Amino acid sequence: MDGECMNLAIIGMQFGDEGKGKIVDYLADNFDAVTRFSGGSNAGHTVIYNGEKIKFHILPSGVLRGKIAIMGNGMAINPKKLVEEINMIENHGIHPKVFISSKAHVVTEIHEDLDSELDKLIKIGTTRQGIGPAYYEKYRRTGIRIADLFNREILEKKLKLMMKLNDIHIERNDTSTIASELMEYGKKIKEMVSDTEIIINNMINSGKNILFEGSQGTFLDVDFGTYPYVTSSNTTVGGIVTGLGVPPKKIDKVMGIAKAYTTRVGEGPFPTEVEGEEGKKLREKGGEYGATTGRARRVGYLDLPMLRYATTINGIDEIALTKVDVLQGYPMIKIGIKYKCHGKEHIYPPPDLHKCEVEYIDIDGWNNINDENFKKYIKLIEKETVARVTLVSYGPKREDTVKL
Ligand code: GDP
Ligand code: IMO
Ligand code: MG
Repeated sequence: MDGECMNLAIIGMQFGDEGKGKIVDYLADNFDAVTRFSGGSNAGHTVIYNGEKIKFHILPSGVLRGKIAIMGNGMAINPKKLVEEINMIENHGIHPKVFISSKAHVVTEIHEDLDSELDKLIKIGTTRQGIGPAYYEKYRRTGIRIADLFNREILEKKLKLMMKLNDIHIERNDTSTIASELMEYGKKIKEMVSDTEIIINNMINSGKNILFEGSQGTFLDVDFGTYPYVTSSNTTVGGIVTGLGVPPKKIDKVMGIAKAYTTRVGEGPFPTEVEGEEGKKLREKGGEYGATTGRARRVGYLDLPMLRYATTINGIDEIALTKVDVLQGYPMIKIGIKYKCHGKEHIYPPPDLHKCEVEYIDIDGWNNINDENFKKYIKLIEKETVARVTLVSYGPKREDTVKL
């Protein structure tokens, strides 16, 4: 950074939970504003702050470093959860300056109920935060936006329409009460509601540095992920353009975050998954339990075709590799190097993942990050992805990080 103007995107390269929160916290000091552009409280980004574990679901994690927080139009925001998270952060003595897009969509308790009901039928294993329904209402052009929290007539009309379109006859048909509650939360955030696309572009044009904090990961992207086992937004780099109103040429660098192995929470294909005792050992060693739902994460070997794909479609320049400490002490480490489907080799994950086999290589394990074998592992990732590994994280705390 060092005086140079830089807008940096942080993008998960796998199925989410790669350690984005930790890396954002590590880098945030170099930036003037930290932002979120997609998703909502389905995210769970963990930061260790003064020895305490803080989980961010809606605010960008960089607020802990006293940075301006910008929440883009591409987000689906539950106002109640946002207010709770702001209170939580204030209890830590941090009073963030937050800008919320008036165009962002609102998630209500009705969306949460719909999410749970829908998931009983389609079994994605969602976080039940109402994210999917908020986005399908958005694309049906019936969604509630942040600006609607300040107009009772519109708000009630939209709530009623949502009940009708979703055929809801449950006891929650009291749109008046729901509208009142939403408006109360609206009052609490009113001062923060702004034209964030103008604010952010003015900041960029006056030479400020912006950090774009991705949520979820490349393989949960609604277009590029393992559809339908994905989230309902664009979690990849294009989401920044549409979710914040930032022109693509203003994104100076893309950093991909990859875990040293792979995890997934929820349903969907996971070709390098490891089950049984071996999987259990890795899950326990890595503390692989969801930051939002507490669910046990599925675990598996590193999948290099996934990282190649993520690098390609996001234009990843640099990789931050996390949780390398978890693999420490294994004599051999298995790595997925390519796929074989119907006798044909693929260096990118093919669309019909579940019908494919993974080809593995074994590499020698390491005991610390200065070990030659660890360096070979890094070189292999760099060779296969054609991106440089510039950060290595070997523990959850800020100081457990080295620049390469
Ligand atoms: P995110 O959603 O990408 O921000 O990741 P999560 O916070 O959901 O999950 C990552 C988990 O791993 C959190 O509990 C972090 O505190 C922890 N973590 C992050 N980096 C490291 C690391 O290098 N080593 C270890 N052991 N834990 C880490
Ligand atoms: P962060 O930002 C891991 C998963 C859910 C489910 C699917 C759809 O912490 O990396 P949704 O509630 O979004 O409709 O669920 O996506 N999922 C995540 N998995 N990390 C996340 O966020 C996730 N957000 C959603 O488990 O499989
Ligand atoms: Mg997470």
